[in-house]
Amino acid sequence: MTTTGTQFDVVVIGGGPGGYATALYGAAAGLSVAIVERDKLGGTCLHRGCVPAKEFLETAAVYRTVKGSSEFGITTGDPKVDFAVSQSRKNAVVERLFRGLSGLLKGRKVTVLSGTGTLLPGRRVRVSEGPDAGAEIAGRNVVLAAGSVPRTLPGLPVDGRTVVTSDEFLDLQAIPESVAVIGAGAIGCEFASLLSDLGARVTLVEALDAILTGCDGEVAAVVHRSFRKRGIELYTGAQVKGFVPRSSGTGGVLHLAAGAEIDTDMVVVSVGRRARTEGLVAAGTAVVIDDRGFVVADRYQRTHEPSVWAVGDVVAGTPQLAHVGFAEAIVAVHCMLGEPAVPVDYERVPWAIYSHPEVAFAGLTEEQAKARGLDVVVKKDPFGANSRAQIIGDTEGMVKVVVERRADGAEGRILGVHMVGPWVTEQLGAGYLAVNWEATPSEVAQFIQPHPSLSETFGETMLALTGRGLHVG
Ligand code: NAI
Repeated sequence: MTTTGTQFDVVVIGGGPGGYATALYGAAAGLSVAIVERDKLGGTCLHRGCVPAKEFLETAAVYRTVKGSSEFGITTGDPKVDFAVSQSRKNAVVERLFRGLSGLLKGRKVTVLSGTGTLLPGRRVRVSEGPDAGAEIAGRNVVLAAGSVPRTLPGLPVDGRTVVTSDEFLDLQAIPESVAVIGAGAIGCEFASLLSDLGARVTLVEALDAILTGCDGEVAAVVHRSFRKRGIELYTGAQVKGFVPRSSGTGGVLHLAAGAEIDTDMVVVSVGRRARTEGLVAAGTAVVIDDRGFVVADRYQRTHEPSVWAVGDVVAGTPQLAHVGFAEAIVAVHCMLGEPAVPVDYERVPWAIYSHPEVAFAGLTEEQAKARGLDVVVKKDPFGANSRAQIIGDTEGMVKVVVERRADGAEGRILGVHMVGPWVTEQLGAGYLAVNWEATPSEVAQFIQPHPSLSETFGETMLALTGRGLHVG
């Protein structure tokens, strides 16, 4: 199909969560939309990120459940991991979602061009390097949604076999015997957790003094303890000095600056992601790309070039989360339509880390609230006392709520809800709502939680914050 010269209401560069959400939401509002995608619709999230990683974490959870089944009186043989089967199941799940997404876009008459898009002056977009190379289209609006790629480390070249990033890791056919994971953020902790559960000997190396530094300190400490208990070796405050490959061609020795030497079959580098902005914007537009390579946008997703917007991981200084990309897309489309838009409140977006134990939170951590000089009240309720947690045999973790204390001593807004433990990624909804509704504990404590359910721990924490808990003091 030749679309050269065609003008659309919206041209989106990048078909990941930020880009396809823009297309779907824009098309639902009656706008004509084109997406330029260099690889596959769905982007990192669907093909090399969230979805494959969670699929493997689920594989790890199934294995854990089967291994622990005798406690429930269910006897099985010695379970074994056939990771090639896990890999093909993951591919099947991704393929189904990919087909679903492609069908949705087709159903909304979104034009998809295959190739790399570059923004030219005058809101024109040139396509290169793919089946639609050579096409040039124009948009009344252009949305930059080119996403991000894994950062790598100098002196540790990625060869895709021994030294890998999340891109290659998620295509593994077998679990190596030993793996060193560098970087203990969300990706590093999810990978360390699933690898350890599936039987690998795991070492986790983090430059900062703690793992999961974006999380509340006590929550991160629960994950740290759990990892240690499961035999994951942790080095914090550690600098990687170098890597010496084995002569056999696979594996090698990772050297840390403090002297430790880690003999490992594989190194996974998970030290953050950088924006994919090389070649994204040609000279002659006013779009600003900061010194770290991210696109500068305001709270309404506007770049410095009129009617050029940016959403998703490519945007400077915002959380790199698929659901943040979705939310930004909706803001951008409202603005294009001249409708009132509520910008994303980045401090209160939901976070969900699917390690075992899981982590989920929204709002300020205790440390952040105190650093702002806020007077706070904090309550914690462990899952150990929760009947459902006992029933499912997963009692590690807690709910922690941070509340503002007003000058007159009365309770103020709920500033942050932090959860670590069983299925908390599915439980955060009520906490997210409480934080974003700026509710007080007395308001939230009136809502009933079903019994027995894991969500009672959240309810109990709120009740305790009113001064009278049923179980928590
Ligand atoms: P990250 O920025 O969350 O964590 C990277 C970690 O690597 C940091 O703790 C950093 O201190 C450490 N690090 C950096 N250089 C290092 C070095 N030379 N040696 C040792 N440690 C070093 O980035 P991550 O985990 O790679 O994730 C990328 C993005 O994707 C993040 O924004 C993350 O939030 C997002 N993501 C979110 C997930 C979730 O919410 N479930 C899952 C996966 C990714």
